[in-house]
Amino acid sequence: MSILLALDSLSATEALAARLAQAAEAGDIIGLTGELGAGKTAFARAFIGARLGVSEVPSPTFTLVQVYENENRGAPVWHFDLYRLEKAEEIFELGIEDAFDDAICLIEWPERMAEHAPEDWLELHLLPGDTDLSRRAALTPHGARAAQLIQHIAAPDG
Ligand SMILES: Nc1ncnc2c1ncn2[C@@H]1O[C@H](COP(=O)(O)OP(=O)(O)OP(=O)(O)O)[C@@H](O)[C@H]1O
Ligand SMILES: [Mg+2]
Repeated sequence: MSILLALDSLSATEALAARLAQAAEAGDIIGLTGELGAGKTAFARAFIGARLGVSEVPSPTFTLVQVYENENRGAPVWHFDLYRLEKAEEIFELGIEDAFDDAICLIEWPERMAEHAPEDWLELHLLPGDTDLSRRAALTPHGARAAQLIQHIAAPDG
């Protein structure tokens, strides 16, 4: 069951990110797919802002991962950008297995993990909309927990 959402502005993308940030728990993995400039980092920035109250969220283009924590707000968030990963195995050097267990992971370009993709993850695919400032989001669960997260988003009251 995938769901398709219209994101008519950057604030709509930010609102979706905030909603998911509220529902997410340690161990949750969200893979952000879509072309260059689709809005993956914009989504991650809003998610981390909403979840942890952090306002500086640069793209981890060269470091491949950036870890965010707020001791008062529960699980840390690991923000990955795997675009520059050369081999799928390199994800292990980033400590990704511990992050899968204990953190909330936001992963841009998750397709770079190839066969090392996690067992249960939510795919959030961003597509262009009708205008420069609009996007569409297709949410696809890859596992039971991911399906549950989608229900949080789809439920009218919560
Ligand atoms: N509705 C929208 N949702 C998300 N981003 C939007 C929207 N409207 C405009 N934008 C803008 O589009 C740009 C998206 O850039 P962003 O860096 O997030 O893309 P990306 O998918 O992370 O690209 P890359 O693959 O290079 O990492 C930002 O400048 C953002 O402000
Ligand atoms: Mg990006």
